Amino acid sequence: MSNANYDIADIELAGEGYETSNWARRHMPVLESIRDRFEKEKPLNNVKVAACLHITSETSNLVETLCAGGAEVHLCASNPISTQDPITAHLVKQGVSVYAIHGEDLETYMAHCVQAISVKPHIVIDDGGDLTKLLHTDFEQHRSNVIGGLEETTTGVIRIKNLERDGKLEYPIIAINDSKTKHMFDNRYGTGQSTIDAIMRSTNILLAGKVFVVSGFGMCGRGVAMRAAGLGASVIVTEVDPVRALEAVMEGYKVMSMEEAVKVGDVFVTVTGNKSIIDERHFSQLKDGVLLSNAGHFDCEIDLQYLKKNSADYKRLRSGIEQYTQSDGRRIVVLGEGRLVNLCAAEGHPAEVMDMSFANQALGCEYLVKSDRMTNSVIKLPDQIDNEVADLKLESIGVSYDRLTSKQSDYLDSWEEGTE
Ligand code: NAD
Ligand code: ADE
Repeated sequence: MSNANYDIADIELAGEGYETSNWARRHMPVLESIRDRFEKEKPLNNVKVAACLHITSETSNLVETLCAGGAEVHLCASNPISTQDPITAHLVKQGVSVYAIHGEDLETYMAHCVQAISVKPHIVIDDGGDLTKLLHTDFEQHRSNVIGGLEETTTGVIRIKNLERDGKLEYPIIAINDSKTKHMFDNRYGTGQSTIDAIMRSTNILLAGKVFVVSGFGMCGRGVAMRAAGLGASVIVTEVDPVRALEAVMEGYKVMSMEEAVKVGDVFVTVTGNKSIIDERHFSQLKDGVLLSNAGHFDCEIDLQYLKKNSADYKRLRSGIEQYTQSDGRRIVVLGEGRLVNLCAAEGHPAEVMDMSFANQALGCEYLVKSDRMTNSVIKLPDQIDNEVADLKLESIGVSYDRLTSKQSDYLDSWEEGTE
């Protein structure tokens, strides 16, 4: 038995966690190659890492990679209901300190976050910015050893860039989401597939022929729209950015205001990173039996507080499916408590995309340790690391690609050659 500190659901689930973690490992070859190198080179020796992540079988492989590199990891959840309890048990058996229980209440969630940072970490890995906020407000005393942080997701990156803009950022943070091998794959293909997976596995409805509304046509939204269309749904996009709205039109989707979309939509996915996308302006217009879900980071995209207060009846139909009946008899069905539906009503992104996201995290930790102290700013990982991740991924799937000849490089570097 390890001597890790922990507060988890059930250590007896470790065997199941070992199997699912190993299953993901088979599909994460890039991270595996980094793990092999870390095992030999130990770049993270004597480094304490506090990590706040969705605790899935893919995360297990990131944490084990960091440990292989010599790190001591203290892990908490980045969402109260995305934690996979077998994985927390498996990691504790590996000697990782884990503070996370699936379904924990808000108070416990925050206490677990505080527990993770109270070890005075050198590196802080965040997904959404909750640890960063604690370390910049009520728990500044735990910040003394921090050399830098890493932020996984779009919403977290927005938060740290706002912190930087306000002149309050107290250590450098790498915006992992800004790496191309993260947002172009994880956000698009990962969220695209796992969001549809969550809707299908929790409801078993047919998407063909349904009117499917996607709010936000960013990296995630375009993935969700693409996969819903691929299954035969008629896709509507809502946007606030005119260029993105135009892109959605050119992709062949209908674009309209939410005010119009609520009258016709059968299934909704909000994925804007913004708040109050579906709120009191809209609930009275929704069709009977409509399904509402959210894939954006926080559960503020659908105003559930309002819906809870203003519905005539509430019923939990089955795990992850709640029904709010209105006074006129219309039933509004909410999936995954309005939290990230792909992680709360399914298992999150497939291992193949998390392979690249978490390769960036592992290489980002190494980069922080090996670099001279950086300024307190939001940093993007060098393109060289992005390309290394893409190269390793291509190699692992047996795909070769062309290299520029010197003649071509010289041509691209010149201005003299043109119309002859
Ligand atoms: P993005 O910035 O690329 O796209 C967001 C889009 O939403 C933008 O085009 C923006 O104009 C639009 N938008 C903002 N307010 C809107 C409004 N009121 N109505 C309609 N559209 C609006 O961001 P992204 O990378 O697509 O991420 C979106 C959210 O998903 C973030 O919260 C991010 O953290 C989260 N995310 C979730 C997962 C997951 O596993 N579910 C994975 C990655 C990112
Ligand atoms: N975010 C989205 N999918 C994820 C996964 N499978 N593991 C960890 N974080 C995630």
